[in-house]
Amino acid sequence: MALLPILTAPDPRLKKKSKPVETVDAEIVRLMDDMLETMYAAPGIGLAAPQVGVLKRVIVLDIEREDVKTGPLFMANPEIVEASDEDATYEEGCLSVPDHYSDVARPTHVRVRFLDREGKTQEMTCDGLLATCVQHEIDHLDGVLFIDHISSLKRNMILRKLLKARKDAEREAEDDKPAVPKSSKAKAKAAAEAI
Ligand code: NI
Repeated sequence: MALLPILTAPDPRLKKKSKPVETVDAEIVRLMDDMLETMYAAPGIGLAAPQVGVLKRVIVLDIEREDVKTGPLFMANPEIVEASDEDATYEEGCLSVPDHYSDVARPTHVRVRFLDREGKTQEMTCDGLLATCVQHEIDHLDGVLFIDHISSLKRNMILRKLLKARKDAEREAEDDKPAVPKSSKAKAKAAAEAI
């Protein structure tokens, strides 16, 4: 297994639509395994292939909360086949939008159909954090980020801050200065919420 670099917004590859997987072959299984390792190391609770620069419809998830414990989930070609009329709002974050969080409303329950790591068709009913996470990851496969669900004013502010942070990091790397450590609060939150 290998750790893959995670793309951050604004990167044009995060805005592209990913292609369906034809068969879950050894290459796709390796991608799934590398993505899971990358997600755990980040740390995050979900990751989609375009976030590591691979435009294929593959996502991985692992939710662990008091009420939900899924273990690792691998999904190729995930699609929502049913969604509740009722919405739930959750404060979302994303490994590709580091250190920014915003409330996003999405259907409370969804039923998702996908190919598992063995290439078998599965269906799963998701609610709570898992429903949010599955919808957030499927959005990535269509080039949609959680900041596309919020006001353009807030989205543009976040994108400007991300660009500035990237430029500062590049300048620090050039100057060979150590990067400014993130606050422990930001780190703890990222660990809990980044999907
Ligand atoms: Ni994300």
